[in-house]
Amino acid sequence: MLVEMARDTEVFGSVKIHELQRVLKFDSGDFENPRVCNVPFESIRDVLKRMAIIIPVKNENMHLLDGVLRAIPFHCSVILVSNSDRDTHDVYKIETDAVTNIHELTQQEILCIHQKDPALGDAFHKAGYDSILDKKGLVRDGKSEGMIAGMMLAKSIGKDFMGFIDADNYIPGSVREYILDFAGGLCMSKSSYSMVRLHWKYKPKVVEDKFYFKKWGRVSETTNKFLNLLLSEHTGFETGVIVTGNSGEHALTTKLADIMTYSSGYSVEPYHYVYLFENFGPDAENTVNPDAVTAGVEVFQIETLNPHLHEEKGRKHIRRMLAGSLSTVYYSKLSNDGIREKIVEEIKDLQKSCRKPKENARMPPIGGIDVGKFMKGLQKDSKTYLRLKQGEIGGEAKHEKSSLH
Ligand code: GDD
Repeated sequence: MLVEMARDTEVFGSVKIHELQRVLKFDSGDFENPRVCNVPFESIRDVLKRMAIIIPVKNENMHLLDGVLRAIPFHCSVILVSNSDRDTHDVYKIETDAVTNIHELTQQEILCIHQKDPALGDAFHKAGYDSILDKKGLVRDGKSEGMIAGMMLAKSIGKDFMGFIDADNYIPGSVREYILDFAGGLCMSKSSYSMVRLHWKYKPKVVEDKFYFKKWGRVSETTNKFLNLLLSEHTGFETGVIVTGNSGEHALTTKLADIMTYSSGYSVEPYHYVYLFENFGPDAENTVNPDAVTAGVEVFQIETLNPHLHEEKGRKHIRRMLAGSLSTVYYSKLSNDGIREKIVEEIKDLQKSCRKPKENARMPPIGGIDVGKFMKGLQKDSKTYLRLKQGEIGGEAKHEKSSLH
């Protein structure tokens, strides 16, 4: 793979944010050019073998989910964390049927779990990780909460890297590219604490009867503006380095995943940056992890070659996502009155109200959870956990007989 070299890198304490790098070619010849990073396919394949792709899903169109599942490179393990309905129609059963079918045809390793499985809530409770639970002791609704469950499963099968892919992508070929881009970025990293965030070249919209290849959406444009402002006010130098504040499609090393704190729902991605600035920036009081401080945390931002075409969920959804994103900056200890006032102005414009944003729930690092114990309890009591191993028809599948069959 050929990726443009980052022209510049913003250094903030031990955090290095590389400027946007374009994918130049998916493959490459054997040559050296100081202006490009040439990542050999063998290195990409080595990363894929050590990576789990986590797909959070909630009632998505099955045609889209099926395309996404089939697009994931064979060497990765797939982890589906579903929060889909199980009442009138058991959507989770339809999802696991599709997964089982793909596994039987391809032999790829696939794990599934339902977010509302009481055994999952119980496993988190026993691990002392109650901040992910609702009042009934079940894992709360939310994409971030699903992602954390997925990370635990990825750790249980010993993965070194985790990537996240949304289930509502119309173009399977772009999903494949995103995962190769994750691997390419991780190969470029010099630190074992690193993250790759994707920036789509275009997000096409249909305007009247034509495609319009839009570059920016309101949420990402506004979130990036405020994350950059947070950085700029601290360094005293204006920057626009962050272009991936809301990067749903991202990957990170398990070592970094273990030490991060997570924000709920859709605020998870912008909070990654806020967390890194607060804990690894120049003013960080307590060093959360001296090893990571020494190694440095690297953030790569890669511009995809493919456009991103996904399901549109409506204006209310966009407003909620933006409020959740801005809340991460508003409540940051690095924020100041000026930034907070500007956020309230933005929200006034968006929601026609002058209120400050609601604070997002936070979930502590997962590194302290004993994965062995967590999985033992989960496997014993779960009615929705399913693991289909590579090259093994049927695997150690455990279905809820009453509803899944
Ligand atoms: N497990 C689980 N639990 N999955 C969920 C939940 C939940 O409660 N809520 C949503 N999902 C899944 C969706 O089914 C989809 O696969 C993925 O999470 C993203 O949710 P969408 O509702 O499709 O979000 P979006 O497309 O508007 O926004 C996405 O892109 C943004 C960047 O443009 C998300 O990935 C955002 O987090 C991201 O910032």
